[in-house]
Parts: sequence; C-alpha cells; structure tokens
Amino acid sequence: MSVDLSPFLHPFARPAAPPESFIRFVRGEGAYVWDDTGKRYLDAMASLWYCAAGHGRAEIADAIRAQASTLAAYQCFDRFTNTPAEELAAKVASIAPMQNARVFFTSGGSESVDTAMKIARVTSHIAGKQGKTLIISREPSYHGVAYGSLTATGLSPNHEGFGPLLPDVVRVPKDDLAAIDAILEREGDRVAAILTEPIIGAGGVYPPNDGYLRGLRERCDRVGAWLIFDEVICGYGRLGTWFGAQHFGIEPDMVTFAKAITSGYQPLGGVIVGPKVREVLESQSSFILRHGYTYSGHPTACAAGLANLAIMEREGLVERAKTMGARLEKGLKTLVDGDRVAHVRGGVAVWALGLTPALDGMKLRDALLTEGIIVRPIGPGTVAYCPPLVTTDDEVDEIVAATKRAIAKV
Ligand SMILES: Cc1ncc(COP(=O)(O)O)c(C=O)c1O
Repeated sequence: MSVDLSPFLHPFARPAAPPESFIRFVRGEGAYVWDDTGKRYLDAMASLWYCAAGHGRAEIADAIRAQASTLAAYQCFDRFTNTPAEELAAKVASIAPMQNARVFFTSGGSESVDTAMKIARVTSHIAGKQGKTLIISREPSYHGVAYGSLTATGLSPNHEGFGPLLPDVVRVPKDDLAAIDAILEREGDRVAAILTEPIIGAGGVYPPNDGYLRGLRERCDRVGAWLIFDEVICGYGRLGTWFGAQHFGIEPDMVTFAKAITSGYQPLGGVIVGPKVREVLESQSSFILRHGYTYSGHPTACAAGLANLAIMEREGLVERAKTMGARLEKGLKTLVDGDRVAHVRGGVAVWALGLTPALDGMKLRDALLTEGIIVRPIGPGTVAYCPPLVTTDDEVDEIVAATKRAIAKV
C-alpha cells in the first residue's frame, strides 16, 4: 500500500497507477479540452463516446442550474413524477425508431442494459412463459459492468476474476447467424431476447455484415423473442439518424441509450420500450414493475437532456454527423499503408484504425496525446475515433494530420 496514491480509485485503470500518470482536465469548449498545465487537446473521442454537442455549452449548464435551483431531484417511484422527465420521455418517444413507445430512465448504460434484460424476462413471466429467460448477445461487444450487462458483454478480460456471472445469457460470435440458428433449433422457445449494438463500439468498432441485423429481426419474430438494440453509443445522432436502428432500417422492440442524450452533462440513460413490449407490461392492471433506480427520471438530468436535444436539433448535429464522419473516414483511409495501418472500419461518425502488429495502439494513443489529440486504443490492434458532432472540418483534418505524424514517430 502506498501513501502516494490518490484517494480516487479510477474506473478501468490500474489501482497501483501513480497520480502523475493521469492527465487532469480543467476546462472544455467545443471539440477541445484543456489540462491543468494549460495544454489544449482535440477530443477525437467525445470524452467516452458521449459529448455529441461539444464541451462548454452554457445553455445546458443554464438548464441544469435552473432545474437544480427549482427542484433539483425528486424520486419517481409510485406515485411521483416531474415535468422534465415527462417532457424528455415524450421527446425521446417522438424520435424513437418505433411508434407509440414509452421510456424508462436510468443513470447510465449498464443500468439501461440490465433494465432491458430484466424487462425481457419479466414480460415472458407476465405472459406465462416462465422458462423463457435466455438472452443471446455477441462477441466482441461491450454492454457495461453491472452483472447483467457484464455477462452480456463479449470481452472475456472484463469477466476475469469477478466470479459467477448471470445464468441463461449466451454469447455468440458477431455476424454469425448460423450460431444463433443452432441455439434457436435447440431451445428457441426459451429465448427471451437477442441483444446487439447496431455498430459495435467499445468492443472494437465493428459494423454489422449486410443483412445481419435484419436476420436477427427475422429470427426474433420467428421464436417470439425481443430484439434489443444497445444504442448507448449509436443513439442520439452518431450514425446520422437519431438512432442506429433508423440508419439500418430495422425496428427493434427495445432500445437502450445513455451518453449522448445529455452529451454527458448529467449522468442519464434509459430504455425505449416499443409497442409490443408495453402491451405485455400493461396487460394486467395489477402488475407492478418492481424495478427502478433512485435516480430514474431525475429532473435535473432530464433537464440537461432536453437542453442537449434542443441544441442538437437547432444546430442540425444529427445531419452534421454524416458530413463530419465522411471527412474523417476519407482522411483516415489515406493513412492505410498495409504495413502499419491495415484498414479503417466503422460507420458514419464512429471509426477505427485497424493496426498491424507492427504498430501498437497504446503507443499510438500516447504519441497522439503528445500531439494534443485524444483517441482511444482498444486492445493492441485498434484505435477508435468518435469526435463531438460539432467538430469542424479543419479540426477533423487536424485529427488526421496529427495521426499521420504520430504514426511516423511511434
Ligand atoms: C454499447 C454500450 N452499452 C453499455 C455501456 C455501458 O454504459 P455505462 O458505462 O454508462 O454504464 C456502454 C459504455 O460504453 C456501451 O458502449
């Protein structure tokens, strides 16, 4: 035990890491953040895939202040509600990829995925299908760190050491419909849901094969299972539509979201519940949904969400994702040399360099930090890019130019 360590035990970091290994950010504006030495960084990751509207938006801060100084928080369990939560649910339902949806609020992505998994199982229960509890997810994938969402996550290092995971969750290789068919043949009537990201994000930035998502929809319909889209990264504009489901033209039964709903100004997530799911939930008037978080429907978080979505609409940021992303894709593709950068993969405004073993992603990240650019390594072979949707053309060009310089230096 060292007394030199910070009392702050960091997420996804070495507990033994010395305090000087962390960069301390103090300010943000647009696509930039500044550290405590005054150094400026271009945030090509929108922090952790979430800051769509950019840093330092006074309008969102003002909305937070106004709500916090009126009614900062009040719980929403039976029989209480508040106007920001009601308004945000209505707004989200109006842009959702399914008609006539309702919205359950959480405080983040992991809680949202757990909520969708629990709703999938409890709707089987309500419908009298007690054994229908199996949830299929994929590898690789990232769905979070609570035990449900962690079990669904297809990244084995994240499971290591955490003991028994949730039963009745099976993971199959991505893009492999045959692997799903094998399960459905054996125990199709036990499948409660298939959980998938439209484009895999933190699991390595993998777009789906043509027809894969439609194949999932068909299989869910065939065995009466719910199709859950985990849109924690794709949701709120990243794919040039409000949700990835709309980009791919697929209607899921549930959508999980978090991150860009507030651009990260407040912790907020949720699940959009489509018409067939809500029909089951509402089918017995005495049924109580015994699930919810202290902060489900938190008025200050919801006020931040409303202000953020208003900015995104007014500034056309969902549309901007397409032009910004196309410029980034084009620029990154100029870096492919087959020698150190093997390929570029992703979609619309989320991209990754696929590296050969000759170039280590962690080292490239560190070289880019020296250049004042923030990217995210995923394993040794992938470096991800997910800039704020307000990133200008010049800033996109600088991200690409700095990456080129950094590759030459590593
Ligand atoms: C697709 C997806 N689902 C769930 C999560 C978990 O979200 P959180 O970290 O807010 O719990 C993430 C986080 O990156 C994610 O990318």
